[in-house]
Order: sequence, then C-alpha cells, then structure tokens
Amino acid sequence: MIARRRLLRCLLGAGASLSLSFFKKGSVHGAAAPSEAKVPLARLRSPWSFAEIEFTKKIKTHRGLQPSTFPGYVIRVPDAIANRLALKDGLYAISRICPHEGCPINFYRRRADAPFPLTVEEFANPMLVCTCHQSAFDPAQGGKVLSGPAPRPPWTFDFVIRGGNVVIRDLEPGGEKWG
Ligand code: FES
Repeated sequence: MIARRRLLRCLLGAGASLSLSFFKKGSVHGAAAPSEAKVPLARLRSPWSFAEIEFTKKIKTHRGLQPSTFPGYVIRVPDAIANRLALKDGLYAISRICPHEGCPINFYRRRADAPFPLTVEEFANPMLVCTCHQSAFDPAQGGKVLSGPAPRPPWTFDFVIRGGNVVIRDLEPGGEKWG
C-alpha cells in the first residue's frame, strides 16, 4: 500500500501520462484474478513499436498469497540491437515499476518528449524514464541505467510467442519488490 501511494504521488507530481488502469482499485494487492498478459504480434511490427501490458501473479504479502498486478511494456527493438542483446524474438518485455522506489516508468520514443531536460548524452534511441527522481534507462543497452538513482535496469518478463501473441508468463525474480 505504501508503494502504491508513492506511485500515485509521483505520478501526480510529475504529470506523466498513464492510463487510469495503472491504479485501478484492486490492481495492486487487490482481488483481481490472476491472468495472462497478451499482446498481438501485429501491434509490434515496426522498430520501437510498443504495447502496454498488465501481468497478474500471486505474491507473498502480510495477508498471505495475494494477486498483484504489474504494469509493463513489450517493445520491438530494431534487429541490429536485438541481435547484439540476443533478445528473444527481438522483443524487450519489462516491468514499468522503477527499481528505485517503485514509481512508474514511461517509454519515450523521442528525446524531446521526455518530461524534463535530459542531461544524458547517450540517448540516440528511445528511452525509458522514471519521473520521480529522473532515472533513465536505455532499452538499446538492455535497460542500462544512464542517469538517476535506480540501482538496476527494469525487471524483465518471461514470455513466449503463442497463437500470434506475445504471452507473458512470469516476472523476473525480485520484480515483485514494489508490487
Ligand atoms: S522511483 Fe524511479 S527514480 Fe526514484
């Protein structure tokens, strides 16, 4: 609950654009039933196309195992970068919960769209940014932290391609820290 309040405070303070479903009642430690997250591959054809997802899994809480929903992105990475990073199917699937203190991460395809002036010069590519304390991550370097206090890249999701969809199966261990 503390993390959720912090998320909301950061979002309101930064004025970042997120769907309301990010904070819908019951989505974190709530009563939502576990569900697979799916994205049609057809939505992820062009380089740097992306889709938002919500993946629900049961996590340990003070009330026992409870379903918790983790927002994320699936991003189509250009072939040259995907090959260098050995990304499965050229896709980068990550949690949108910042590893620093759990605020939302946003994906910006253009540097100019970032909500604050970025001092990091390495940003030739689209970027992932947390507006709470201005951590920035480079999807072209596996989520490498380029600025800010985040201690690590965003957690990743395990996925398979099934029936023309990207199907999210699990969250990287540790990713439920701010769930
Ligand atoms: S919570 Fe993301 S930088 Fe602090």
